Amino acid sequence: MRWSRLSFLVTPRRALIALAALAVAGLLIAWSGVISISASSGHWRITYWALHWVMQNSIRTYALFEPEPPVDLDAPAHVRRAAGHFETSCAFCHGSPLRVNPILPAHMTPMPPPLANASDTWSRRELSRIVRHGVKYTGMPSWIAPERDDEVWAMVAFLRALSHLSAADYQRLAFGPAVPEDRALEGCARCHGLDGGSQGGAFPVIGGQSAAYLDATLRAFAKGARHSGYMQFAVDGLTDADVRRLAAHYAAQPGVSDTVQPAEGAGAAIALRGLPEADVPACESCHGAPSKRSPDHRNRAYPRLAGQDAGYIAGQLRLFKQGARGGTEYAHIMRRIAERLPDDAIDAVAEFYSAAGRGRRAE
Ligand code: HEC
Ligand code: HEC
Ligand code: HEC
Repeated sequence: MRWSRLSFLVTPRRALIALAALAVAGLLIAWSGVISISASSGHWRITYWALHWVMQNSIRTYALFEPEPPVDLDAPAHVRRAAGHFETSCAFCHGSPLRVNPILPAHMTPMPPPLANASDTWSRRELSRIVRHGVKYTGMPSWIAPERDDEVWAMVAFLRALSHLSAADYQRLAFGPAVPEDRALEGCARCHGLDGGSQGGAFPVIGGQSAAYLDATLRAFAKGARHSGYMQFAVDGLTDADVRRLAAHYAAQPGVSDTVQPAEGAGAAIALRGLPEADVPACESCHGAPSKRSPDHRNRAYPRLAGQDAGYIAGQLRLFKQGARGGTEYAHIMRRIAERLPDDAIDAVAEFYSAAGRGRRAE
């Protein structure tokens, strides 16, 4: 057919009528209910291909806006930090080295893929995009605390390690000791151990922390007033009695303390005297043992720092500075102080406090 004759048949008006008819037909089909949305029938191959193609393109494009991961991304402490959370919140959909073919995902559409080779398919920033934002229409959830870049990266580090983790390695990283008589404590010990040690720098030391601070902090996570994808998930569903019991358990372990040994250096000077030129008070006036000069914080929920992990202290100070930490009803006090702390002061004071508890803390 020649174009001139075609253009005679297809007038703009006829084209519009045809389009409207198609739309009405589509609506009628959807309204009639014959389109099956059952997961049991799966997708047609072309639907699956089209959806996955759109997903891949979207991840690739939006990954350009993800922040650059840190240079020490694959450090063992990062892998360890995410392992327990992977087991409780990802493995039932994606499987794990211990559960290669879980049964539920085989009945989902789309089926959550095994992740052992995810780091061959996706770059570091693409993985971070997927973990932070999830994937629409698939059930793949977004990160509980999207402001925590560092937490998303720990999960990316874990996904990159997954391809070479044996079942035994996975067991060691993702499960804690069995605590048959206390399920809630078993849940915490998966990451923190029974003694609340830092597990090689993966977690804060919570052993020896004041019970008042532990209690108030667990409640702050539960309310969402303190932001952490790992901890907000871990405290979800705890009862009041659980919180009190867990706080008392960890407070009774060896670990951090409120006394520091006299020491020299920039970190010690900040802790004991503050940074007068930056209007920063001595850290010890709040974090140290109650004294004649400041007797009133004995019962307040202020945390102990001596013997805390250095990476954790520095990380928390930077989160306070960015306004991403949150915390208990006293957190605003610390935020104002952290805002005035220069970067080199943060590292020096973190190192001082970590060393101040060496020999006493459970590693
Ligand atoms: C409710 C089930 C579900 C849970 C829970 C879940 N995911 Fe997913 N995830 C999916 C599905 C379904 C897809 C596939 C999306 C697609 O291909 O369109 C997916 C995709 C992914 C991908 C991309 C994999 C690939 O090769 O295409 C990664 C990486 C991933 N998830 C990581 C995680 C992590 C980490 C967690 C835990 C924090 C998690 N997922 C929790 C269902 C889940
Ligand atoms: C999946 C691993 C994981 C589990 C399970 C877990 N935690 Fe944590 N916990 C963390 C991480 C990671 C942090 C550091 C959070 C941050 O960076 O803000 C943390 C922080 C904490 C803090 C704050 C410490 C401080 O000095 O402010 C307390 C208290 C705590 N956890 C107690 C518990 C208790 C009690 C349980 C059991 C109900 C538990 N955690 C379960 C990983 C876990
Ligand atoms: C005026 C009192 C006050 C002073 C001075 C103070 N802090 Fe704090 N700090 C707090 C309070 C209160 C919190 C607890 C916030 C919360 O409950 O969420 C805190 C929390 C912290 C935390 C988080 C601890 C954890 O376990 O999560 C760190 C790290 C910290 N402070 C470091 C410092 C350093 C370093 C200095 C000195 C430069 C300092 N603080 C000075 C009141 C103070």
